[in-house]
This record gives sequence, C-alpha cells and structure tokens, in this order.
Amino acid sequence: MTMTETPTPTPVATTAETTALAPTADAPDPTFSGGSIELQGVRKTFGRNEVLNGVSFSVAAGEVVCVIGPSGSGKSTALRCINRLEEPTGGDIRLDGESTLSMSVDTLRQRVGMVFQQFNLFPHKTVVENMTLPLRKVAGLGKDEARTRAMAGLEQVGLAGKADYRPVRLSGGQQQRVAIARALAMQPEAMLFDEATSALDPELVKGVLRLMADLARRGMTMVVVTHEMGFARSVADRVIFMDRGVIVEQGRPEAIFDDPQSPRLQAFLAEVL
Ligand SMILES: Nc1ncnc2c1ncn2[C@@H]1O[C@H](COP(=O)(O)OP(=O)(O)O)[C@@H](O)[C@H]1O
Ligand SMILES: [Mg+2]
Repeated sequence: MTMTETPTPTPVATTAETTALAPTADAPDPTFSGGSIELQGVRKTFGRNEVLNGVSFSVAAGEVVCVIGPSGSGKSTALRCINRLEEPTGGDIRLDGESTLSMSVDTLRQRVGMVFQQFNLFPHKTVVENMTLPLRKVAGLGKDEARTRAMAGLEQVGLAGKADYRPVRLSGGQQQRVAIARALAMQPEAMLFDEATSALDPELVKGVLRLMADLARRGMTMVVVTHEMGFARSVADRVIFMDRGVIVEQGRPEAIFDDPQSPRLQAFLAEVL
C-alpha cells in the first residue's frame, strides 16, 4: 500500500458541495421514456453490392449505442434502414417490439427522429417555421399547438431568440441544434445521429456534443454514428464497430477502446486515435 492510499477520514459534504452536485434550477428539462430498437439480421443490397450483411443488435430503452467504423462500412445505411430512408432487403427491425416494416413511414419517423451531418433545414423558411412544418404536416398539430411545441423545443436548445431568423444567419452549430430540436419536438422514442458534428467547424462541435450528451443523460434511446471517439468513450453505454457490412466487435467503451480484440478494430483505432 502506498502513502496516498492511507485511509483518510471521509469528508462530510458541506451544503455548498451538495448543492453543486444537484441539477441546476434553470435546467428542469424533462426526462425521456425511450423505446427499444432491435435489428435482426438486417441485410441491404444496392444492385450487387451487399452493404449490410446480416446486422443484428439491440438498443434498450434509454441506452446509447455509438457505431464506429471505416468509411463505406455501412453505418449510415444501417441507421437509414431503422427509419426506412432505405428499405432493408432482409431481416427485421423492431421498435419497442413492433416491426417497423409494417408501420406507416410517417408514424415511424415520428417515433424515431434522425439528425444528419447536413442539417437539412429549409433555407427559405425561418427557424420556427422549419420546426412547425413537420409538426403540422406529419404530426397533424394545429397552428397554435405546433408553434407552442416548436418554441418549447427551441427553448430547450437555447435558441428561442432565433425563432424568426433564417437558418443562414445561424452558425452551423446553432443550425444543428435547431435540427435536433425539430426532431425532439415530435416527441420521439429514439433518436438517430449520423455524424451530426462532422460538418461543423471545430469550435462548434462541443456545443452539439454537449446537447447530445444531455439527451443521453435524460434517458433518450440513441444510436449515434460518430467519429468523435471521446464522445463514444464517455457517453456510450455500448460501442459497435462495423466493417464491410457486418458488426465485427461490440462492447463497453472501455473494452472497445482499451482492449480491442479483432485485428480490424485494432487497425481502425490505430488510424483514428
Ligand atoms: N443509395 C445508394 N446506392 C448505392 N450504393 C449505396 C447507396 N448508399 C450507400 N451505398 C454504398 O453502400 C456502402 C456503405 O455506405 P454507407 O452506409 O454510407 O457507409 P458509411 O456510412 O459507413 O460510410 C458504400 O459502398 C456506398 O457506396
Ligand atoms: Mg456514413
């Protein structure tokens, strides 16, 4: 035993310390009750190209799974199959136990939100109009209710003051926060992120990652394709490594990053870390 390990009396937390650990009063954000996602032997071919070759994994309600892997390994395709931006050519995908393949696409996309590398905001509409549009068209809300829900969403990402701006007047980080708020406003059971920070200037990445970490903390079910290994390590419950259309390895972040088993994951980490 070294000197530093000598037992010392356990300090009694002062009131000030206890308060510092408690959630701040100005962050009464609601918690989410996420849904589970399960991929069962998902296949996708484009012509002769087998892009997903039987991908199976499950994400429990409130769990955060990060998907890493080289470019072209099928990460985006797997994500896009979950909300049927691509139709799988085999296998099944279940949301809270229910096959997504038999749902209407509108219902599915309300229940599973997706955030892209490019924010996909309409440039000719204001921020709040970008938010109310799907609430009215897809969720079928009335004008006032859509506006109230949109403003509440903007409030949550700290952008209520920009409601009437066009996206071009916002930074990339702010635009991505609007895109996240737009997805959240549908009150989804799960959120998919496809390299949500890859198009951002380096100084804007942190704010978006912080928002994503906050959603994770609040219990959102999340599947996050990312190159941000620091984020994956600190926020993910589980990390999945994909290569050439299959899951090569998955596990706790510590296992994946500190003790990779497969030569392909070892080689990938040597490239990116
Ligand atoms: N719509 C498409 N049509 C044809 N090929 C596609 C399409 N989308 C993706 N692919 C191919 O699927 C493979 C995997 O792509 P993708 O899922 O985007 O990989 P990743 O996100 O891991 O970089 C690539 O070879 C890509 O060219
Ligand atoms: Mg991709």
